[in-house]
Amino acid sequence: MTVAGEPAVIADPTYPDYLRSRVDEYLAELRFATDQGTAGLEEAMRYSLLAGGKRIRPVLALATAEAIGRDPETVLPLAAAIELIHTYSLIHDDLPAMDDDELRRGRPTCHVAFGEDVAILAGDGLYAEAFAHLLARQPGEPRSVIDAAAELAAATGVQGMVGGQYLDVAATAAAGPAGLRQLHALKTGRLIKASIVCVLLIDGGLEPATIAGFTSFAGELGVLFQIVDDILDVTGSQAALGKSSGTDERLGRRTYVSEFGLEGARRLASESHGRARATLVEVAPESPGTLVQITDFVALRSY
Ligand code: IPE
Ligand code: IPE
Ligand code: MG
Ligand code: MG
Ligand code: MG
Repeated sequence: MTVAGEPAVIADPTYPDYLRSRVDEYLAELRFATDQGTAGLEEAMRYSLLAGGKRIRPVLALATAEAIGRDPETVLPLAAAIELIHTYSLIHDDLPAMDDDELRRGRPTCHVAFGEDVAILAGDGLYAEAFAHLLARQPGEPRSVIDAAAELAAATGVQGMVGGQYLDVAATAAAGPAGLRQLHALKTGRLIKASIVCVLLIDGGLEPATIAGFTSFAGELGVLFQIVDDILDVTGSQAALGKSSGTDERLGRRTYVSEFGLEGARRLASESHGRARATLVEVAPESPGTLVQITDFVALRSY
């Protein structure tokens, strides 16, 4: 594969399955309940967590470790914490009061399988257990681990994912392209960005310019991810996506497709892909391999 600023035409984007498998194995080992009374809550949490999924965020964390010359195994606790948080966001996003979706990761959504009350608690549980796991299990200097935890908390708070979800459901994002980009940067981009930035923080020893470069790449990749999600909501099949398509139109949501049309959204995704690649090649000229592969997958994926 050639590495260039402009996205190459790649018919079948590959994905680092060796990293995804490692994440899946690690997640499968996680247990949360210690007594019979809360076994049902753990069941609901693991039902959604272990239903598959692309594992983009934890895979990005592992690939970032590789790119800075660190053993990916050493950031598995962080990577798992991020996937727990992402799964919580999906469970709550699907609730009747939010997007009211009944299919996720190829299965009935958590609230369909376990009831709304248990689904809300399963999301809450995953969020708290994510921080418990990160703080107890992530190796590194205590200051660096706290910095990563702080970044993850900020990325999921009002200036991150939850704030972005609010902009989405309350339709309060500013008008125009900048407002739409802000919506996407917060609701989806911020956690994807944290998946990369937290690994740099745990390492602790990187040059500010390197951190700035990776941060800029990560921000672009996060927005690109949601632009493609918007496109797939229109063009994707339920079978391929493992979730319903057409949700955004049903809910009258503001997306890159509603704002720019399908062709406009595709063009903007392609431009974003080019920017993400160019930034990445600049920041990690010697070892961008797996991150380039993931960037191409995010842009060209069909699920
Ligand atoms: C879906 O995320 C929700 C968004 C933020 C767009 P993914 O597309 O990463 O979902 P999974 O984890 O693969 O199921
Ligand atoms: C959700 O965006 C972003 C989250 C924070 C979960 P969407 O509502 O578009 O995600 P999907 O399409 O349901 O996966
Ligand atoms: Mg939503
Ligand atoms: Mg949704
Ligand atoms: Mg969507």
